[in-house]
Amino acid sequence: MGDPTAQYWHRDDLLAAVLDALEQAGKDLERLTVEELAATDQFHGGGRPATLRLAELAGLHEPVTSARRVLDVGGGLGGPARTLASLFGCEVAAVDITPSYVEVAQHLTELVGLDDRVTHHVGDALDLSFDDESFDLVWTQNSGMNIADKETLYRGFHRVLRPGGLLAFQEPLAGDVTPPHFPLMWADDPSTSFLLPSDELRTTVAAAGFEEVAWQFVTESTSSGTAPPPPPHAVQLLVMGPERLAAIQAAGRRNVEEGRVAMVHAVFRRAS
Ligand SMILES: C[S@@+](CC[C@H](N)C(=O)[O-])C[C@H]1O[C@@H](n2cnc3c(N)ncnc32)[C@H](O)[C@@H]1O
Repeated sequence: MGDPTAQYWHRDDLLAAVLDALEQAGKDLERLTVEELAATDQFHGGGRPATLRLAELAGLHEPVTSARRVLDVGGGLGGPARTLASLFGCEVAAVDITPSYVEVAQHLTELVGLDDRVTHHVGDALDLSFDDESFDLVWTQNSGMNIADKETLYRGFHRVLRPGGLLAFQEPLAGDVTPPHFPLMWADDPSTSFLLPSDELRTTVAAAGFEEVAWQFVTESTSSGTAPPPPPHAVQLLVMGPERLAAIQAAGRRNVEEGRVAMVHAVFRRAS
């Protein structure tokens, strides 16, 4: 596994650890629901409520004549993908660069019986192996911060979206004060963290052929400083371990208080 980002996120035996933690938390693996998985499979600030908020911003509650085709980029363990499929009937392809995450995502999707609507693929967001104009919505939560080449990233999103299709993302941003304190959830040091300030990200997305529909800061509601302590089956604990997670949360609180990191929910439309 050569990619440094995949190396950063990878954990040996993650599937066994996830299943064990779910059982320890009293979940019946034969009767799991998507909601019950939320602590374990929504790997971003704000958890499932943030996913629901972004879905509303993207208009997913509005009726459609046929299922929306969604590409979830950096889909992780698949929580957002399964949520969009179970609540809004979307057909979701999720792509992630970390093979052990894709393995867990596939297994959990089968456990909740969504494998007819949600597929998981190993792949790089910068080299999407999907046809031109094949999705109605590109969705991504807390993945772009690992990616330096934002121009290629958003041009790729534009290519796979049908004209008029939507891009919805939750994305950490550089604040007014730099640099951020490390460790961040996504990086121990600057080698895998690539945050743009708000204005620069908006300009970059627009330059890739998008028009802005919504841009809302959600820094407080997605910060671990305002969240209750994570339960033992939380993905953050399973992946980072208690000591490292405590250091990440302490740095995260300072980053928000000192204006070093912000978070946005944004929706853009493919303009042409
Ligand atoms: C914090 S997790 C978020 C997972 C998921 N979006 C969620 O919210 O539950 C970040 C994910 O981005 C993925 N990722 C980072 N860089 C990527 C890239 N270039 N291509 C695909 N996935 C990437 C990582 O493997 C990891 O699963």
